[in-house]
Amino acid sequence: MKISIKSAEEIKKMRIAGKLAAEVLEMITPHVVPGISTGELDKLCHEFIVNVQNAIPANVGYNGFEKTICSSINQVICHGIPNNERVLKDGDILNIDVTVIKDGWHGDTSKMFLVGKCAPHNQRLVKVTQECLYKGMEAVKPGAYISDIGNAIQKHAEKNYYSVVEEYCGHGIGTVYHEEPQVLHYGKPGKGIQLKEGMCFTIEPMINQGTKYCKTLKDGWTVETKDGRNSAQWEHTIAVTSDGFEILTKRNNEFE
Ligand code: MF3
Ligand code: CO
Ligand code: CO
Repeated sequence: MKISIKSAEEIKKMRIAGKLAAEVLEMITPHVVPGISTGELDKLCHEFIVNVQNAIPANVGYNGFEKTICSSINQVICHGIPNNERVLKDGDILNIDVTVIKDGWHGDTSKMFLVGKCAPHNQRLVKVTQECLYKGMEAVKPGAYISDIGNAIQKHAEKNYYSVVEEYCGHGIGTVYHEEPQVLHYGKPGKGIQLKEGMCFTIEPMINQGTKYCKTLKDGWTVETKDGRNSAQWEHTIAVTSDGFEILTKRNNEFE
């Protein structure tokens, strides 16, 4: 399959879906405090998307996933399953990843939350991982190579003595949740396809404090670091513009 190029009209719809996904993360932020369970956070997001946004939570039923958000705490890299037993505690670092479908178009985004007072090494991991997302996005413009994104991310992660998860990548997105191209978060510059105006894809680096290797738990979803050290992830859906990129899932308090 070829990589789809979205028209200005289609990007308008991506912008709407992206904004809604960002607003889910904004809505949930004040609720992310010690004592709340990931199951309760999931329920709040679900009800907001369905009842307030009149939109569809894309994760529900996706390959058998049953929840609206992925909630990935500490050593969990991605795809953590919300549940009523896991209650957030002071010092946890949490990723909430949500995808909303509006009018057939997808917006996919995630951010990290520092729960209560977090150790400086965890604060640093979270901050550097957000910087990795921004370095990746800043490599995006027509004519740039797709591997320039991963190269920028890997350089910044390794400069900070972190590793980059290789098993999971960013992805094209539109009326289909995951489509071409794959956006690797590591690699050499100047490889693969060249970016064109109208391409839409996610960048979603997963950065580890220790080894890059991961394992999937018996639930078939939860992905953890092999060494049990912590991992962080930030994700945006972006569009390639005539002279760079547009963040379709930008939040009002992007750096809050
Ligand atoms: N939102 C994730 C991504 O960034 C995918 C989650 S799939 C799920 O691509 F089934 F686990 F929800
Ligand atoms: Co996502
Ligand atoms: Co994604």
